[in-house]
Amino acid sequence: MSTAEAPSALPWTAAPRIPGRLPWIGPGLALLNDPTAWFQRQRDRLGDTYVFETFGYRVFNVFSPVGVKNLWALPESHASKGVGDFALLSHKVPAELFDGRRTFPHGLFARENVEVYLANLGEAVDRELADLGGAGEFEAFAFTRRLAHRMGLASWGSPLATRPGRLEKLLPAFDALDSSESFVHPSKGFLTWASGKRRERAALAEIETIYREILAERDATKEADRNEGFFADLCANWEGEPEEVRATGIARDVMLVHMGSQSNLFAAMAWTLIHLLERPDLLERVRGGDERLLEQCAHESIRLRQRSIVLRQILEPCVIEDEHAAYQLEPGLFLATMMSVTNVQGAEGLDRFDPEHYSGGPRFARQGELPARELVTTFGHGAHYCPAARFSTRAICLATKALVDRFTLEPRFRAPQPRRRQIGGVSRADRPCRIRYRGGA
Ligand code: HEM
Repeated sequence: MSTAEAPSALPWTAAPRIPGRLPWIGPGLALLNDPTAWFQRQRDRLGDTYVFETFGYRVFNVFSPVGVKNLWALPESHASKGVGDFALLSHKVPAELFDGRRTFPHGLFARENVEVYLANLGEAVDRELADLGGAGEFEAFAFTRRLAHRMGLASWGSPLATRPGRLEKLLPAFDALDSSESFVHPSKGFLTWASGKRRERAALAEIETIYREILAERDATKEADRNEGFFADLCANWEGEPEEVRATGIARDVMLVHMGSQSNLFAAMAWTLIHLLERPDLLERVRGGDERLLEQCAHESIRLRQRSIVLRQILEPCVIEDEHAAYQLEPGLFLATMMSVTNVQGAEGLDRFDPEHYSGGPRFARQGELPARELVTTFGHGAHYCPAARFSTRAICLATKALVDRFTLEPRFRAPQPRRRQIGGVSRADRPCRIRYRGGA
């Protein structure tokens, strides 16, 4: 890999190219129909490095050990995740939301105040489980979606946001704004575009109004009584600004952090629960207090159900090598690989759920068997490693443990699989995953 131009490098156009029958659309429809299978089919036909063009995007793809390793190693200044994400998210998210942000997950999680955030997470779980009552049935993803909203907002959106009545208004607004919709249901992107993001703009205005109320209430409370975790840091970034600027700035910072969370956290929580219910032997050990096993299950669930496309937009000329050639990449091009393809290959048995693939903590236990460690990923690698990885693992373990300790759970689903059309994030399921529960495990 090199960030300069290399005289011996081939132009990127020399890589095998996927023809598309339709102008502009190219192979896009087949890709969106089942991205994971499609990327793999092209590998089988053309090899591990290939290019295609669709909907105006030119995408250079790498899947081989050297190619994937070199993708992760390219610096942001040359192959940008931020600009690549923006290109995708701007179809869904109103542009004004990206403007002037002061709080980013990196800053928040770098100053983790573990005690406060764990207390807030615990309280959010207690409240949500209390709302379940003594017995009933829920759908795993619908339930964890609501739970993760509550846990996230209690952590960085102020505990005041999760008050009954207020939470009910905030959740539909956050769901309307949810940027992950654009990659979970790519076809809905057209609707967003056709409506001029009307629904998203209304949600943004609704959340801003609610945050003006929250801030008025917060400012009337003594600092020692607030227990607000990350929200205190977020507010500090807007201290001293005129009231309207401050309120809008805080509301939009909360929105952007929360949107980062919506892509993955609840789905990872749902799969952890589903996999445990599919393996009563593991469930019993977790109930018995085996917290290490629970953490292994969380990491393994994320590995197996990852559907993230790793996407970078080239900003400066740079070179990427695979095992056979070096290619010159030019600005404007996208560089990609797909975790759902690489995460289940590279070693025998990776297509199956086995918590022993993690030995405690986020490190993949079979790393030594892989031709490149970057071929398996849960929270990413290198400079873009997820800043909320530790927080998310804690949140998943805390919520799952509380559920299995307090309820007897009976799965009403059979062998759910990832949703076929998803391209990005941890997968949602291809069918409802209903779970019957009864208090007193
Ligand atoms: C189980 C939950 C989560 C999973 C599996 C996950 C996964 C990932 C992955 C794979 C990446 C790297 C992507 C790439 O390099 O292309 C990433 C980056 C990121 N994640 Fe997460 N994530 C999770 C939770 C969260 C939460 C809760 C937040 C925010 C509150 C968050 C915010 C971010 C941000 C801001 C980045 C970009 C980092 C950068 O570009 O330097 N994530 N995440």
